[in-house]
Amino acid sequence: SPSDPDLVERARRAKERLGDKVFVLGHHYQRDEVIQFADVTGDSFKLARDAAARPEAEYIVFCGVHFMAESADILTSDDQKVVLPDLAAGCSMADMATAEQVAECWDVLTEAGVAEQVVPVSYMNSSADIKAFTGKHGGTICTSSNARRALEWAFQQGEKVLFLPDQHLGRNTAVRDMGMSLEDCVVYNPHKPNGGLTADELRAAKMILWRGHCSVHGRFSLDSVDEVRARIPGVNVLVHPECRHEVVAAADHVGSTEYIIKTLEAAPAGSKWAVGTELNLVRRLANRFAPEGKEIVFLDRTVCFCSTMNRIDLPHLVWALESLADGKLVNRIEVDKETEAFAKLALERMLALP
Ligand code: 13P
Ligand code: SF4
Repeated sequence: SPSDPDLVERARRAKERLGDKVFVLGHHYQRDEVIQFADVTGDSFKLARDAAARPEAEYIVFCGVHFMAESADILTSDDQKVVLPDLAAGCSMADMATAEQVAECWDVLTEAGVAEQVVPVSYMNSSADIKAFTGKHGGTICTSSNARRALEWAFQQGEKVLFLPDQHLGRNTAVRDMGMSLEDCVVYNPHKPNGGLTADELRAAKMILWRGHCSVHGRFSLDSVDEVRARIPGVNVLVHPECRHEVVAAADHVGSTEYIIKTLEAAPAGSKWAVGTELNLVRRLANRFAPEGKEIVFLDRTVCFCSTMNRIDLPHLVWALESLADGKLVNRIEVDKETEAFAKLALERMLALP
């Protein structure tokens, strides 16, 4: 829907009043009405890397979800304040791994006698607590654009990986990109005693996958792929690695949001694409590339927006910017010092990956 011109003008004016004091970051899944005000847009990796790009900015307004704002706080100086325009913008996947559950899992691995061989690799889509656990136990963070390099690094440090919290990204990277077999992977279910696994299963596994998933990408199915191939002959199927393994295995191209954009930029005129990722991004790309004769459709018309990404709308952004311009700090995301120190260790290991 077109943005309310009155709100657009208010956002523009508030940003102008703030000048260099504000730096607005926007994830690719944000609404059009919000993304137009971002100074930098990107996938999770690019936004983590660029968060510290404007040390002179007092405020970083993060148009994305809570774990991204936490990471930006961890990676920037203490004088910079990170603001999330709506505090209800969480992530259902990140919520699937709590600090208590992960501590319990580590006890299970210790009991089974495998903990010392395990290196944790945590997806960016996790709370600061989980990132701190990862740092404390010698592990690294990864995003969908460097998961393979993170796993390769981890297997140089130890024999097994505990991959948190997205089982699909972990499995897809291990099996599709690194040639491991499905049998090398086991799933740890935090709602079952001992994760639902025997000590023997833990000893045999190379990848211990946390039972978490993205509620948006989890809804694309093999039927979605079959249906779109039947409907659009010659279509290229391009999906995010948070999709289920059978969807990724049936797709032609797999990658992060930044990869999806680059792939479509490079696509020839006349090509047809079915894209399996969040709807705001797919719609924006479909509109952007239609004049170049590239046909882009949503992989499954029954899947909808990421509801928490969509929490950040123009009214919330205007409110945050106007408050800051009036000297009122609102919705600050601040990670406590101890958590920050260990989480930073894990994030810096990711940023140092080759
Ligand atoms: P990327 O932008 O890193 O591909 O992440 C996708 C995602 O689901 C973020 O929540
Ligand atoms: Fe979380 Fe999925 Fe939404 Fe990304 S798209 S914020 S992983 S629920």
